[in-house]
Amino acid sequence: MRMKTTRTSSNTVDTDDTQDTHKTPTTTRKTATMELYVDSANLADIKHAASLGFISGVTTNPSLLAKEDPSLDIKTLILDIHASVGGHTSVEVISTDADGMLREADEILKWFPEATIKIPFIPEGLKAVRALSDQDIPTNVTLLFTPLQALIAANAGATYVSLFLGRLDDMASDGLRAVEDTVEVWDMHDVEALIIAASIRHPIHLLGVAKAGAHIATVPYKVLMQSMQHPLTDAGVESFLADHAKMMKAKGGA
Ligand code: G3P
Repeated sequence: MRMKTTRTSSNTVDTDDTQDTHKTPTTTRKTATMELYVDSANLADIKHAASLGFISGVTTNPSLLAKEDPSLDIKTLILDIHASVGGHTSVEVISTDADGMLREADEILKWFPEATIKIPFIPEGLKAVRALSDQDIPTNVTLLFTPLQALIAANAGATYVSLFLGRLDDMASDGLRAVEDTVEVWDMHDVEALIIAASIRHPIHLLGVAKAGAHIATVPYKVLMQSMQHPLTDAGVESFLADHAKMMKAKGGA
């Protein structure tokens, strides 16, 4: 059975119910919505998702970039992606040594200074995270599969910790449980790093991480679109329009 946790970290506040007798008797209330990022490097998909108004960031990685047209210049693509979303943009380094990662981070920050540097959870990566954190440069530590890895990354100064659900599920381990446990540890110790739920494969994952209390979910375009769909919404719009047309006809209009 999953343990239910009560979020008390940075995006929640205690409420004072004594002034309002009509309030439900809860002791805490969320003040921030779980943010949604697009997990993609496809400019058309990112632009469409961003145009809908509910996306506040984008996360890329070398595999996502490798799916795109190889003739595209990476720097131009990343800058176009960033301009399309206008919010958080994570760009991942490919070096496996701290010095190399820091050199790549310098280069990315020259492209756009508000970049978040995405760094894999390896020992050299932690050194780089510490160095960047000491310079107040935001980092997103990726390839995390356990709450302890996430806690270590947070202690190295990570701004964001990316927990991968789908890849755990792929090997018959419970990905959602890893996010729930991480939220529980975060609440217990009031950890500042923001939890990104990543490797989301379907809408039920998205619902699960929202219920678990992740701060952010980075979601493939397809899953975002699937999560918006409901046949009753479509049928409802259709019948409203049909009824409106019927009424206008009855009134002798168009
Ligand atoms: O953000 C990480 C994500 O892209 C990994 O997803 O589906 O390759 O496990 P996936």
